[in-house]
Amino acid sequence: KRHLISAGDLSRDDALLILDTAEELARVSERSIKKLPTLRGRTVVNLFFEDSTRTRISFEAAAKRLSADVINFSAKGSSVSKGESLKDTALTLEAMGADAVVIRHAASGAPHRLATWVRGSVVNAGDGTHEHPTQALLDAFSMRRRLGRLEGLKVAIVGDVLHSRVARSNVLLLGTLGAEVTLVAPPTLLPVAVETWPCQVSYDLDAVLPKSDVVMMLRVQLERMNAAYFPSAREYSRRYGLDRARFGRLHDDAIVMHPGPMNRGMEISAEVADSPRSTITEQVANGVTVRMAVLYLLLGGSEPAIGTSAADPA
Ligand code: CP
Repeated sequence: KRHLISAGDLSRDDALLILDTAEELARVSERSIKKLPTLRGRTVVNLFFEDSTRTRISFEAAAKRLSADVINFSAKGSSVSKGESLKDTALTLEAMGADAVVIRHAASGAPHRLATWVRGSVVNAGDGTHEHPTQALLDAFSMRRRLGRLEGLKVAIVGDVLHSRVARSNVLLLGTLGAEVTLVAPPTLLPVAVETWPCQVSYDLDAVLPKSDVVMMLRVQLERMNAAYFPSAREYSRRYGLDRARFGRLHDDAIVMHPGPMNRGMEISAEVADSPRSTITEQVANGVTVRMAVLYLLLGGSEPAIGTSAADPA
């Protein structure tokens, strides 16, 4: 495949190839080999029209660990503030020789449009409320590393599903990989079309928790709330927050995930976020490895990604 725009475009074999490649890359990195020469001479452009900490930095780290050249573009401080369009911005960056463009944009569908304008590979790093496929891949990778499997895993995704590109990409990818997903949210924070999604829906977090192997808490996206009914932080937290008492309802091997950034004290308590059963910092570290695998597979490095003979030691 040339682009990664939706988790729904990945077959089971595609998804497993990415996860298995990431696993090999993680093993190489555990041997203190920090840099591989596979994308030497290639250019990756990070095109960010929305704020990001984890995704932007991890794509940059991933590209650099594969020896690619990286150009970081942030809409703030660019000619976008003078009215330059997405198309003209993209064509300008392509003229500088981009082999891959990693894009985050507030508009759902922006990466899809971009793919019709540029010759290089397009990677969706989050578009509006639509999708965030590399987040779903790193989440699946983190689950498989902690729990040893994905097939048959019971995953609860909890909170502001309405505005969550992470939820949609996870539902699509985890369904492809054989996990059983239940969305748990107040009715006002579920998309109208949720009945067509390949998952279960519940409004009762306390009933779902004891049956779950993974609980993925979503950030309440106050900046996108617009007309959606949101009770109050206190009421939301009382009904849908993961605090110490609710954490106690999980079975002993269950894990807690959050894509970040977190609203500590709203959807998740600090105590739960920092507990040994939380994978939140592992998810960030795994994000670099999974994004290395995605860039390598899309750009087809000139040398094997794995295999340490040509690797530069750290
Ligand atoms: N999880 C995630 O996408 O975080 P950032 O917004 O910081 O990139």
